[in-house]
Amino acid sequence: MDILRSLRPTRALVQAWRHAGQTVALVPTMGNLHDGHVSLLRLARQRADRVMVSIFVNPTQFGPSEDFASYPRTLAADLRRLRAARADAVLVPGVATMYPRAGGATVVSVPGLSTDLCGAFRPGHFDGVTSVVLRLFNIVGPDMAVFGEKDYQQLTVIRRMCADLHLPLQVLGAPTVRDADGLAMSSRNQYLTPAERTVAPRLYETLLACRQRLLANEGDRRAIERAALASLRRAGFRPDYVAIRSAADLTLPQPGTRRLRVLAAARLGRARLIDNVSVRLP
Ligand code: PAJ
Repeated sequence: MDILRSLRPTRALVQAWRHAGQTVALVPTMGNLHDGHVSLLRLARQRADRVMVSIFVNPTQFGPSEDFASYPRTLAADLRRLRAARADAVLVPGVATMYPRAGGATVVSVPGLSTDLCGAFRPGHFDGVTSVVLRLFNIVGPDMAVFGEKDYQQLTVIRRMCADLHLPLQVLGAPTVRDADGLAMSSRNQYLTPAERTVAPRLYETLLACRQRLLANEGDRRAIERAALASLRRAGFRPDYVAIRSAADLTLPQPGTRRLRVLAAARLGRARLIDNVSVRLP
């Protein structure tokens, strides 16, 4: 497994793969890898001849009061996991490699989508995500890139960026990997105390209850969202939002919209948890 830290060897390796007629998948991560990340790598392995994983804790997607400094960095363990999962190469760039201009670097922004839902509570977050993901795409030049449905808004924002900018690559979404009790795996679950960890699966349960009510046609969208917020508060969460949206573009569902997504973000102790489920109305 090649470990790459700068642009030139990364491009040379990808070029060599291309010369050999091989297709390339990129799996962008911030490290501290868990089974959710490994599932993306597995999907990438099935679809492409070569898989590159990137590990970069991207400073531009963290707000000033967020956890950039304390975000778990576990490179040695991550590299062991990636070797075991047969990644071909890992790109581990430094901040100066990704952002050679210290201040005022070019920002890529998807209007509307990026300031909705999580974007409303984390100003600038999705601009940071699109700005780093486009840089990674330009450095690696993959045929495809894999992202998790766990971060459904992120996946939607990236798909939109690729469509708007005519980027010549395919974006693949991978299903959310959960612990046995339903909690979506996340690096930020480590911030939960043991007591909070027993409460955390209620987020997914609340989303499943929303799905049931939508399928049973019980109450309108707003009433279902309100009930879910109340039930999260009773469980001890401080919810940012629960939202029932169109799965295609996260706009408000219209009367004929059949493919929905129910998304939620809620604080529990030090952690901010997000999750979502799909609903297909008959
Ligand atoms: P990170 O949180 O490390 O996640 C990397 C990828 O793993 C994302 O596509 C995310 O959706 C996916 N992922 C995380 N938990 C998952 C789970 N439980 N099941 C399935 N997939 C899961 O998301 C980021 O990093 C960053 O924003 C990044 C895209 C790398 C840009 O900096």
